[in-house]
Amino acid sequence: MSEVPILRAPVGTHDVLGPESARWEGLIATFAQFAYRYGFSLVLTPLFEDVGVFNRGIGEDSDVATKEMYVFEDRGGRHYALRPEGTASVVRAFVQHQPVTPWKAWYVTPAFRYERPQSGRYRQHHQLGVEALGTDDPALDVEVIALAWRFFQSLGLTRVRLVINSMGHDECRGRYVAALRAHLEANASRLCDEHREVWRRNPLRLLDCKRDECVAVTGVGPQLPDYLCDDCRAHFAQVTEGLVQLGVPWTRDPRLVRGFDYYTRTTFEFVADALDGAQNAIGGGGRYDGLVERLGGPATSGIGFASGVERLLLALGAEGVTTSLVRRELDVFVVDTTGHDAATTLLDDLRGAGFASDRAYDGRSMKAQMRVADRSGARVAVLVGPREESAGQVTIRDLRSEESVPQHLVARHDLVATLTRLLTK
Ligand code: HAM
Repeated sequence: MSEVPILRAPVGTHDVLGPESARWEGLIATFAQFAYRYGFSLVLTPLFEDVGVFNRGIGEDSDVATKEMYVFEDRGGRHYALRPEGTASVVRAFVQHQPVTPWKAWYVTPAFRYERPQSGRYRQHHQLGVEALGTDDPALDVEVIALAWRFFQSLGLTRVRLVINSMGHDECRGRYVAALRAHLEANASRLCDEHREVWRRNPLRLLDCKRDECVAVTGVGPQLPDYLCDDCRAHFAQVTEGLVQLGVPWTRDPRLVRGFDYYTRTTFEFVADALDGAQNAIGGGGRYDGLVERLGGPATSGIGFASGVERLLLALGAEGVTTSLVRRELDVFVVDTTGHDAATTLLDDLRGAGFASDRAYDGRSMKAQMRVADRSGARVAVLVGPREESAGQVTIRDLRSEESVPQHLVARHDLVATLTRLLTK
């Protein structure tokens, strides 16, 4: 036995291996297809950024920036952070490259947050997301939300709810925060232990608190919808009317402010009722009309959303949706007993013709190779031994048939045509 200790993946992270990884491929491919249909193109940005991108982007006082960000100094003394979310990086790239607007980008990315790991909450999770910059047209809000909604529907999820709110622009929000602060100050002694002091730094965080004490205090007093100016009210009405026109059901949650400072106006979340309360958001997003400026660019509106891959898979599991999103099964397994590797050229032909094909190695016995073939899940085995080879033939054996020996000989040069007929029926 080896003395070398086994190293494991870090706490709160996961390896994803086949066949589970086929579900990931399916989700990502489906999302890519949706993003393409809605006019978004793929954007790739570094996994780490100057820590200022996130401090300025999501807000230095946000929970994620203060408690959860993986911050490090590189060997050159630069201060970087691993991306805790996608939006700030994408907007940093927008500011740097100044693409023509409206600019619509989608991404799939790991995100890193130092959280207390539990089901649906990890230190590395993965997000599928879109960002659209260059207009505050409510039609774009509707489009982004509809993309997410249709995507969830296409996966087969039925127990998902859209909750939506408007935070107003800076001025509305500022007036509301001032009123909320005064209300919290007057009721500070009734807040939960965690938030009795926090409200001073960031009063909006208290609206996220699900404990009875905080809910009781924030359930009365100033309410965000009452502080919206006429423009923000009209914007929100256009968004919700647009959703109604598309048949996307929504409910308003006046407490939905979300955890990052960049949000303005529309905010929304998708809640999976099949999942446990604390981790049941399978996606969320909103407008961030001041974010480009915060990162040094010209005044530019933006909106986006992101969805957690792990949570989507949990929600699919919890709803009992079993349809595999992509087929990742082998078509053909080649069993070669010629003793001189006839499989390599056979496989080259089969793969060239588009068949997912594999083989055994190391010149193993017929019986051992057939065992691997059966385990592989392939639909047929193609057998080639010395006798078949000298006759210019191969044997096709159906690995899924109930019959005892469901096989037949075909000429080697007819193999691809025969399999095409057999397997594409
Ligand atoms: P977020 O709500 O923080 O928003 O994250 C998006 C989604 O990622 C969540 O709805 C959830 O499904 C998943 N998620 C978040 N944290 C974890 C975790 N620790 N473990 C597992 N899954 C997690 C954002 O990140 C924004 N950037 C979304 C956005 C895009 N807003 C505008 N554009």
